[in-house]
Amino acid sequence: MATHFLYLWLVFLIDFASVTECKSMVENYIVHMDIAAMPRAFSDHHSWYTSIVESLLDSSKHSVTTIESSTSASSLSSSKLLYTYTHAVHGFCASLTPSEHNALKNSPGYVYSIRDLPVKVDTTHTSKFLGLSSYSGAWPASDCGSNIIIGLVDTGIWPESKSFKDDGVAKIPARWKGICEEGTRFNASMCNRKLIGARFFNKGLLAKNPNVTISVNSTRDTDGHGTHTSSTAAGNYVNDASFFGYAPGTAVGMAPRAHVAMYKALWDLGAYSSDVIAAIDQAMMDGVDVLSLSFGLDVASLYDDPVAIATFAATDKGIFVTASAGNEGPYLASLHNGTPWVITIAAGTIDREFGGVVSLGNGVSVMGLSLYPGGAKLLRSPIVFLDTCSDMKEMKKVGSKIVVCLDKNGTLIEQFFNALQANVSGGLFISNSSDLSLLLQTPFPAIFLSPQEGDVVVKYVKSSSEPTASIDFQTTYLGTKPAPSVTSYSSRGPSRSCPIVLKPDLMSPGDLIVASWPKEIPAADLDSGSLYSDFNILSGTSMACPHAAGMAALLKAAHPEWSPAAVRSAMMTTSYAIDNANEPIKDIGHNNRPATPLAMGAGHINPNKALDPGLVYDAETGDYVNLLCAMNYTVNQIKIITRSYRFNCSSASSDLNYPSFIAFFNANDSNMKSETVKEFWRTVTNVGDGVFTYAAQVTPMDGLELSVEPERLVFRKKYDKARFKLSIKGPRLIKEKVVYGSLSWIDIGGKYVVRSPIVATNLIFRDE
Ligand SMILES: *[C@@H]1O[C@H](CO)[C@@H](O)[C@H](O)[C@H]1NC(C)=O
Ligand SMILES: *[C@@H]1O[C@H](CO)[C@@H](O)[C@H](O)[C@H]1NC(C)=O
Ligand SMILES: *[C@@H]1O[C@H](CO)[C@@H](O)[C@H](O)[C@H]1NC(C)=O
Ligand SMILES: *[C@@H]1O[C@H](CO)[C@@H](O)[C@H](O)[C@H]1NC(C)=O
Ligand SMILES: *[C@@H]1O[C@H](CO)[C@@H](O)[C@H](O)[C@H]1NC(C)=O
Ligand SMILES: *[C@@H]1O[C@H](CO)[C@@H](O)[C@H](O)[C@H]1NC(C)=O
Ligand SMILES: *[C@@H]1O[C@H](CO)[C@@H](O)[C@H](O)[C@H]1NC(C)=O
Ligand SMILES: *[C@@H]1O[C@H](CO)[C@@H](O)[C@H](O)[C@H]1NC(C)=O
Ligand SMILES: *[C@@H]1O[C@H](CO)[C@@H](O)[C@H](O)[C@H]1NC(C)=O
Repeated sequence: MATHFLYLWLVFLIDFASVTECKSMVENYIVHMDIAAMPRAFSDHHSWYTSIVESLLDSSKHSVTTIESSTSASSLSSSKLLYTYTHAVHGFCASLTPSEHNALKNSPGYVYSIRDLPVKVDTTHTSKFLGLSSYSGAWPASDCGSNIIIGLVDTGIWPESKSFKDDGVAKIPARWKGICEEGTRFNASMCNRKLIGARFFNKGLLAKNPNVTISVNSTRDTDGHGTHTSSTAAGNYVNDASFFGYAPGTAVGMAPRAHVAMYKALWDLGAYSSDVIAAIDQAMMDGVDVLSLSFGLDVASLYDDPVAIATFAATDKGIFVTASAGNEGPYLASLHNGTPWVITIAAGTIDREFGGVVSLGNGVSVMGLSLYPGGAKLLRSPIVFLDTCSDMKEMKKVGSKIVVCLDKNGTLIEQFFNALQANVSGGLFISNSSDLSLLLQTPFPAIFLSPQEGDVVVKYVKSSSEPTASIDFQTTYLGTKPAPSVTSYSSRGPSRSCPIVLKPDLMSPGDLIVASWPKEIPAADLDSGSLYSDFNILSGTSMACPHAAGMAALLKAAHPEWSPAAVRSAMMTTSYAIDNANEPIKDIGHNNRPATPLAMGAGHINPNKALDPGLVYDAETGDYVNLLCAMNYTVNQIKIITRSYRFNCSSASSDLNYPSFIAFFNANDSNMKSETVKEFWRTVTNVGDGVFTYAAQVTPMDGLELSVEPERLVFRKKYDKARFKLSIKGPRLIKEKVVYGSLSWIDIGGKYVVRSPIVATNLIFRDE
């Protein structure tokens, strides 16, 4: 029972584990090919790949023919060739034995192959918190994202959800090439002007797990994650939304007029990169403008990361890609998707809390936190105090009373399970932890109290001969402070696959987010059974990512001419790093100390400001290639990422024109006193209308000397560019693990502040 609840309870921090795999000899491989090497005899790359796979079968005929002697090579090859990729990757995915895989390496045009790896899924008041309004700012300026298509690679979608009604949504753009694919409980009439595309990909999953049965073989969401993320990005207005009485109000996504296309590649039974690449490949062909990816792979290098490779092609095509940082925080260097061409999103809290009220027998009331979804109210129930609730014998005697437990040395979770096992009728848990969001949705009536509120309760219980208490749930507190804060689970930088680009980029709302949910999937579980709802509250960087995708849709609608890098720059340089209590944004994972850019990137998203950023740090495909060259990748490794993009490494440069800075001070020599200077060159483009002069301002960084050259930049007209150099001087090895500050370009007219975070660190990356 207890482990059952542990699973249900923690599932709200979305992070799927893959199904346990059987060890089979046959593996799926994602194979990268050089299409310039395709012999003329082939009419297209698909027939070329088919012939390559057929030739492999010949070379290992013994093992194949003995089993299925009557099967022709071509039908076998079609069962072995799972996907042909066209845009996201030049190559294919095939299911191969070790000897076939070895033989493949001698095929002309072969570049590289990697095993098909499982991916990790990282799992509405939000719009008000972000300052979005119908009257001014990003919504009217973008017509709420009208005409923009947001593609999501996720667990599917529940088309009947009210968030996907198309009232007020403009007609489908003529450039759209996608379809609404039929399948189990899904037909073309389920798409409309809001949900304009639905496709599903599971060949990789099935090849890897031949015995699994896919009961819902369609884009229909049997998990809930994809319905939640897509309604967060672009859900239409839904009145009277709530999660069992919590967060009542109108639910609306970030870009309520944008179109949604769902590419289902994440399945309950597992999620594989071969299916994800096929999904991204299709999304590129169909014509999405923004791609939202709430999952990732924890791999060490960009050329081994299928998501990094596929999104390079997408970005080259002008698609803006948002990706979740992962839920492995608060440890440094725990993030995935630390890829220079995508925007990597951390998860923050918002200014809303959920809870209940405890009314004591003496007439005094205290408030606490809770998301208990059951309807039960406790009325004048007897209440006992059992200190740390560690004595199970005593706990079992509680029976139909409320138990009060005090978290003295971080045993809160243990106390909670003791109370659950003892089947008490209610629990009050006193803890000073500010990291409770994942514990709140309890299967029995429970409230979490601060030490101050808890003290009032304990004093009353101890002093009364027959203490009682009543508990009311379903309370929503708005405007709570401080907010936002960085959640403890949000994964931290630096990026292992590309440490020289500061990651994550930005934080957006990811904690306790209300969004749509399939009505046939439990939204909560109680002792007495499952509860169902059209809305659910989830937490994770999975929830933060679609907020950024929706925001990017608003910016693309308002500025169709901006490149993906310009959109990212606008989002980053206009973000804020000060919370609603007017203090630096705090990090819940590090005892509420000020958050560093390795936790939150530049800061929290600020959609209205991002419409008009003043300056942008732009970049194009060639700049990313120059960065790959500077990372000392081999030509072959670079080709895996760039496909047929023509390049040479004559302009290798680690100075990607990026709106943030990270410097490693970690030379291991005995002379700590000798100094070193790290230099960064950047170019900014004036996207404001008119003449502007900007002055540089840097915040001091402990033990380091910062300077900017020139200190003033003058722009005579829109799209003028200016180049500058930021220098950071310090000892070869700094003492602090992480020192941080910022560089702001301040318009002397007072209209714009263009802020970039700076990190200096002594962390060392072996594969750097
Ligand atoms: C699609 O499915 C819905 C719901 O099952 C059904 O009412 C409708 O007739 C179907 N449409 C077509 C074209 O099959
Ligand atoms: C798959 O099913 C077949 C036939 O039922 C069985 O022989 C085989 O062991 C199964 N394989 C796995 C990996 O479960
Ligand atoms: C799922 O549907 C696709 C497309 O209709 C079909 O090709 C495939 O065989 C189906 N797979 C299963 C396991 O039913
Ligand atoms: C802390 O927990 C341990 C067992 O986990 C217990 O023995 C000890 O008494 C606790 N300390 C306090 C101050 O409650
Ligand atoms: C828990 O207690 C309730 C009444 O307080 C009772 O109905 C229920 O059967 C108990 N459950 C278990 C698992 O003991
Ligand atoms: C909570 O209390 C413990 C010990 O009582 C203390 O070590 C810890 O710093 C406190 N945490 C917060 C966030 O106040
Ligand atoms: C690449 O190699 C050069 C020359 O060996 C070296 O100076 C540079 O630090 C290396 N860059 C990275 C990112 O490892
Ligand atoms: C390398 O590329 C640059 C820019 O694309 C080009 O100007 C240059 O001629 C190329 N160099 C070589 C050796 O191909
Ligand atoms: C420096 O080198 C020494 C000896 O090789 C090693 O023990 C130490 O960990 C290194 N320090 C850093 C910061 O790399």
